[in-house]
Amino acid sequence: MRLPDGFLDELRARTPLAAIIGRRVKLTRSGRNWKGCCPFHNEKSPSFYVYDDGYHCFGCGAHGDAVGFVMQSQGLQFREAVDLLAGEAGLDVPKASPEAAVEDQRRIDLQAVLEAAAELYQRRLTSADGARARAYLEGRGLSRDTIARFGLGWSGEGRGQLATALQSQGITPDLLVEVGLMRESEDGRPPYDLFFNRVMFPIRDRRGSIVSFGGRILADGQPKYVNGPETRLFSKRRNLYGLDIARTEARKGAEIVAVEGYMDVIALHQAGFAGAVAPLGTALTEEQLAELWRLSPMPILCFDGDAAGQRAALRVADIALPHLTPERSLRLARLPAGEDPDTLIRRNGAEAFRAILTAAEPISTALYGLYAAGLGTTPEQRAGLRTRLEAAAAKVADKALASEIRRALLDQFFAARPQTPRPSYRPAERGRGAGRGPSLGPAIAITRTPPGPDLAASERVRALLAILLRHPALIGQVEEAFGLLDLPSTLSPLRDAILQWSSVAETLDSQALITHLHALGLARDVTQVLSAVPMPLPECAKATASSAEAASGWWHFFGLMNPNRLEEEVTAARRAFEVTPDAAAQRRLIALRTASEALRGGRTGWDDQPDPA
Ligand code: UTP
Ligand code: MN
Repeated sequence: MRLPDGFLDELRARTPLAAIIGRRVKLTRSGRNWKGCCPFHNEKSPSFYVYDDGYHCFGCGAHGDAVGFVMQSQGLQFREAVDLLAGEAGLDVPKASPEAAVEDQRRIDLQAVLEAAAELYQRRLTSADGARARAYLEGRGLSRDTIARFGLGWSGEGRGQLATALQSQGITPDLLVEVGLMRESEDGRPPYDLFFNRVMFPIRDRRGSIVSFGGRILADGQPKYVNGPETRLFSKRRNLYGLDIARTEARKGAEIVAVEGYMDVIALHQAGFAGAVAPLGTALTEEQLAELWRLSPMPILCFDGDAAGQRAALRVADIALPHLTPERSLRLARLPAGEDPDTLIRRNGAEAFRAILTAAEPISTALYGLYAAGLGTTPEQRAGLRTRLEAAAAKVADKALASEIRRALLDQFFAARPQTPRPSYRPAERGRGAGRGPSLGPAIAITRTPPGPDLAASERVRALLAILLRHPALIGQVEEAFGLLDLPSTLSPLRDAILQWSSVAETLDSQALITHLHALGLARDVTQVLSAVPMPLPECAKATASSAEAASGWWHFFGLMNPNRLEEEVTAARRAFEVTPDAAAQRRLIALRTASEALRGGRTGWDDQPDPA
């Protein structure tokens, strides 16, 4: 939300900088100004100067105004810092528009619903009904304090309890659908509970407000965790489990460590690693990395030691590279294969995890290991590796750092002397040279001229969006994958708007969606997505495609962008179908299988059009 002109000036005028900074730094007079030891780097003699309208450190270069200081020193975002300072100065932050005020109020109402649910779940955990769940958590070594600190709860046994229990507080099933605790059923029956028979983990945003829940089954059933869907309050791509706590603890010196799961964060916290956070059941996204960097210039990312963990590490390193600067980097830590932080600590104590953190490698060192792993030493393989290392360094946007990283990688490359070549394992490249598949694939082929690599990538994104604009009923099926997709940031607002709309729209109708997007000022994006330029859209993105074609087509393009993720989705869909064999689960499974088979058949989306003859 844009603040009206003049408000920030007024805020700065009413916010004496020396007083604000003086709370954190001992300042002494220096002529008209003040000086002290810089709070942003370690120094013994003062090089941090405070003026009327700003501060500057001659040691580390930190500078800014009152808002900037609050952001930097407390790890807040712009709006949060403004709100805080305005509160102290007794100023009301103006609302940009009546719509924004309504939206703010709506968020507050929804948050209250989630808080009420969290209280209910917590009460259930301590009641007689919660005995099994309590025993489970104790069995996993969680103390009462830890359980309370994370607000863990118990959903209750069967379905259908939530709405009844919250009714007396004026909470309707519609509201529960909107916050993601219930789901609309497809066949016109009343909404049903998403969570039952589960230990409940409230998910909080950076400020500590509950935005969703995760739920774990007590025994070994499937799915092990259920996570709340994308809603107006909750974006899986942006939030991190444990962020609210880590943010406060980072300021007290806690090391920021990203791990994989809910229970890892909690176990680490209990063992004294209060800066632990985790993504919500998915690989770390670009937005989550940015969030980590707000807390620490050098967070540690912790990965499994097995092959899948190392692939995940490579993927994250790849998305991090363009954003690295001399002040902002990463370290990568590697767990013993078969352990997660929770099991490691339970078996070997906090010291064992401390050792893993100590052994974490700077990204430039870790990258070499990740790229070189499993490669042989023939000249061809070495040349291939070298090309990949140089390409990785070239992704770093900061020129000076890019050249240092390139040097560091090549130093390691030349230090690793070729020895006798061993047979090496290299995963077969997917979707190539596998011959033409059976023609039961989704209706995706449109032209015989394959686009170049960059164009192909952006056209795939366009196809994914176009399919959803034309077939919004599909959004429920692909919501999570769509929410987590790496999109160019210019398209993020469009995605957010589509997801938000689908969580509240009464009917999922293409025309209604497009009208809504126009009203939000996104007409240009819509037109661009639906345009026949640079390439005509695939058949499955047309309004005339059947919903099954649209669905399998969507997963097909998704799979072209993320081959591994597609296989994970297929597995998850198969499990989900086993647990709840309803029509929706079946449609999803069929769509995913069709897409996966088409991909294995080697179809790339633009070539291999089945011969008409
Ligand atoms: P793991 O399977 O590694 O589980 O999934 P975990 O965190 O070790 O859980 P415990 O220790 O068995 O309780 C890692 C993360 O992946 C997500 C969850 O966020 C989980 O914490 N996940 C896992 C799901 O979202 N759904 C699942 O069915 C499984
Ligand atoms: Mn675990």
